Amino acid sequence: MAKKKSKTKARSKAKAPAKASKAKSSTKAAAKKTSARKPAAAAQKPKIKKSVFKKSAGGNGAHPRPSNKPFGQDGKALSGVRILDFTHVQSGPTCTQLLAWFGADVIKVERPGVGDITRGQLMDVKGADSLYFTMLNHNKRSITIDSKHPQGKRVLDALIKSCDVLVENFAPGALDRMGLTWDYIHKLNPRMIVASVKGFGPGPYEDCKVYENVAQCAGGSASTTGFRDGPPLVTGAQIGDSGTGLHLALGIVSALYQRIRTGRGQKVLCAMQDGVLNLARVKLRDQQRLAHGPLTEYSQYGEGIPFGDATPRAGNDSGGGQPGRILKCLGAPEDPNAYIYFITQAPVWGPICDLIGEPTWKTDPEYATPRARLPKLNQIFERIEQWTMTMTKFEVMNACNAVDIPVGPILSMKEIAEEKSLRDTGTVVEVDHPTRGKYLTVGNPIKMSDSITEVERSPLLGEHTDEILTAVLGFKAAEVDEIKNSGALSAPKKEEKAA
Ligand code: COA
Repeated sequence: MAKKKSKTKARSKAKAPAKASKAKSSTKAAAKKTSARKPAAAAQKPKIKKSVFKKSAGGNGAHPRPSNKPFGQDGKALSGVRILDFTHVQSGPTCTQLLAWFGADVIKVERPGVGDITRGQLMDVKGADSLYFTMLNHNKRSITIDSKHPQGKRVLDALIKSCDVLVENFAPGALDRMGLTWDYIHKLNPRMIVASVKGFGPGPYEDCKVYENVAQCAGGSASTTGFRDGPPLVTGAQIGDSGTGLHLALGIVSALYQRIRTGRGQKVLCAMQDGVLNLARVKLRDQQRLAHGPLTEYSQYGEGIPFGDATPRAGNDSGGGQPGRILKCLGAPEDPNAYIYFITQAPVWGPICDLIGEPTWKTDPEYATPRARLPKLNQIFERIEQWTMTMTKFEVMNACNAVDIPVGPILSMKEIAEEKSLRDTGTVVEVDHPTRGKYLTVGNPIKMSDSITEVERSPLLGEHTDEILTAVLGFKAAEVDEIKNSGALSAPKKEEKAA
């Protein structure tokens, strides 16, 4: 486990570049020899390019031998990677939590006395870290450091030297104001990857602070969410924060992979606006289609309502071009979640007609083709709803899936929390916490057969400060005392604060 990491491991990592450069030169030498030996034959035979991975990742021109340990028992995907986690709130913590689940040793640096602001936000249990914090910071270690204190800077420098990746999502310029510019970090540790979430990329808004819903609006999601005759809507899924954290994690592992070949770190930037736009990609697709005519799969086309010059809000129409709606089931509208998403997918039109008791619609030219159905979608969905309202959403789901009709029951968070299959797969996990007791969290949604996720509770504020100073950074007892006595790791006393 990353937490048991010793100095020996850190040392063996430091040796890696030397090995890699040796390997590079021996590969070159081998290539020279080969080309000297085979002249004419090479010209006739097409050259098969070897995979880059083969040349670089193993370092000696070959993959390591396949492990003979059982799957799931040979470490984790990111074992040996150490992360300096300077993140707070949601976007950055989502990213580092994922990396921790894949086995990285994530050291979360927090402001003394306060910590990540979310520890105290939306609190439900007095005196305990909030669920907002605990659910985003599993499997991490916490150290408190005043990054603007000279002794704090000393500890941060040591962390920069011993980590592979620094992840941060401060407001624009905050990291530089701490003195941690790219040049400074790169000089201390040329292998360091510096990964950032910002609200906007370079441009007119780059200095703005950004939260989830700002990003949903700036990334094009809000203007395309909601009903045509209502205001723009934000979605409950945190596509700005958690979505950008996911994007950043992919950037980081790609940079780690590239570093195997280049030996150097790089900057990785994910702007929340860009992350949201990437997830709203199909709406930019529709924007361009508008130049060539109306968007026929949007309900408003069938209703004869003209399109404007921008992608409109499409209510619950499906983004994939197949007409879809959310329909009432037995219990609605009193039960706010007794609904199902129903798609009139062309290939299953026949089974739909049979199920709802309209078998003649299969051959009636007024209904038989998708084009003929477009102007009648309201009437068709009303008829389907008459049928769905006779059953619960789960009964509708069973009836439809029996004949391969995809439908989506609207599951409440209560139903999801109680769903056994999600518990069985580790997607919903119960975690114990020393001050709040048991709580539910969302586990790792990415399942790997050789890198198994164990969800561990989030750290208390500064819980691992001593352990990190000594076991990770190698400070001697006298140095630890000096750093601690300077006040760099503790909250300022009340009278100091007031002054
Ligand atoms: N020791 C000393 N100072 C610390 C510190 C530490 N350990 N950790 C943070 N700070 C300081 C920062 O240096 C900064 O000081 P400065 O402004 O004087 O330079 C200050 O704390 C505030 O940091 P900041 O990031 O500006 O926090 P904020 O609460 O004002 O803004 C956000 C919060 C989220 C709006 C902002 O960080 C942001 O826009 N981040 C990028 C986009 C993002 O991730 N948004 C989504 C969050 S889920």
